[in-house]
Amino acid sequence: MAEALAAIDSSRAHLDPDYPRFHVAPPIGRLNDPNGLVVVDGTYHAFYQFGPFFPARRLIYWGHASSTDLLQWQTHAPAIAPSSWYDRSGVYSGGAVVADGTVWLHYTGNVKDADDRRSSYQCAVTTDDLATFVKHPANPLIPSPPPGYTAHVRDPQIIDDGDGYLMLLGAQRADETGCILAYRASSLDSWEFAGELTFPGVDGLDRFGYMWECPNLLRVPDEQTGAIRDVLIFCPQGIDPVGDGFVNIFACGYMVGRLDGTVFHTEGDFIELDRGFEFYAPQAFRAPSGEAPVLLGWVGNASEDDQPSLRDHGWVHVLSIPRTLTLRDGVLRQRPAVDAEPARALALQGTTVGADPVVIDELTGATSYWLTLEVEPEASAWELTLAGGGDSRVALTFRPGEMTVDRSATRYPHGGRRTLALDMPARVRVDLIHDRSVTEVFVDDGRIAFSMRTFLAPGERTLSIAADAGLRVVAARVGLLG
Ligand code: FRU
Repeated sequence: MAEALAAIDSSRAHLDPDYPRFHVAPPIGRLNDPNGLVVVDGTYHAFYQFGPFFPARRLIYWGHASSTDLLQWQTHAPAIAPSSWYDRSGVYSGGAVVADGTVWLHYTGNVKDADDRRSSYQCAVTTDDLATFVKHPANPLIPSPPPGYTAHVRDPQIIDDGDGYLMLLGAQRADETGCILAYRASSLDSWEFAGELTFPGVDGLDRFGYMWECPNLLRVPDEQTGAIRDVLIFCPQGIDPVGDGFVNIFACGYMVGRLDGTVFHTEGDFIELDRGFEFYAPQAFRAPSGEAPVLLGWVGNASEDDQPSLRDHGWVHVLSIPRTLTLRDGVLRQRPAVDAEPARALALQGTTVGADPVVIDELTGATSYWLTLEVEPEASAWELTLAGGGDSRVALTFRPGEMTVDRSATRYPHGGRRTLALDMPARVRVDLIHDRSVTEVFVDDGRIAFSMRTFLAPGERTLSIAADAGLRVVAARVGLLG
């Protein structure tokens, strides 16, 4: 741990103009999945996969940040170090559960031997003060995968379902297809294999990618009926794109339904959670019964670490803005959960925009903000352009039935342009969260989320809007967040 703390101390990452102001980012090195999300006494604790020595070494710890408003995050010392025989090659992802005032963080201990052969051990640490984390003396709590599965078994998520505890694990069958395993326990240190999750009536899920990572079962309220549904999120690796969807290196999606034992009764398709260039491995803070859970995802992709922030300032990747999740017509709505709802009306509000780009003066020079627009596009194409120094820019173009995001004129090397088919209502709400080098777009009141890194060139930042025919801007508001 001392070596990780020294690396953090030596870091100058926070001086980087690309370092976000209100997104969780690593104090140095690499961040990937959010882990162990838990709220204790009104404070949100977000742990995350943290490689303090990256890119020299890939060794993974659990990093730790906390916040009372989901906007300002404080960095703490790493919570779990890869210091035991059962986690010595990395403390991999997992989830939190609170029992009798003690927070349990389950994780996967990853071990690679001299021949690069992998073992996976399901383990736990406990903490009573969120400052001292004690590895459980009985670790590893699950020492080996059940027969019929490979060593790719990881990412425990624990659910207290009233009848005891359920653990879901991402896994790979011996025939190299992906699945989710379930274990049950009445006490958190004693797990019994309960079987594989099954999906009766759904074709193709038994051969859907070679490995499923990061399963999460959430209870999500339907915003029209108040009914609570189970939403099962998972990340299948190795599936084919479907039309313009699932095109990132690994996919992340969800199914709505009801879990009964190990049987998941689905009520719809596997839907991509976020349509952006970068998004993976999300998990959520558990909400009190009936309330909307708050999700955080990794705005990054495996193998896309070659980024300007790493080269120049020694850090890479961020977590998404926290998002409240509700359901509407069987589809998740994701809305920024931070308490900074745009309140300041812009001069643009109430105007009609034409072909001459209108620069939103109030945002000139701003690098971190939340913009809300409500527009009535009728048949017109319209465009929002986020520009930085030189001619760097990111353009969002909305045409009837589709949206195109073009970030080819940025410093970011991984993927330039993407078009999605998108039906939109006559009046559409678009929320744009921009925070220095990360941008999240929520279209149609949270129905489509689109996350991406937007490394604009240094220089004054502007946001402008233009349309080929008159675009009525019913509402235009901003919250300057950081
Ligand atoms: C997902 C993942 C997890 C694993 C972790 C390792 O991004 O591959 O399955 O636990 O990252 O950092």
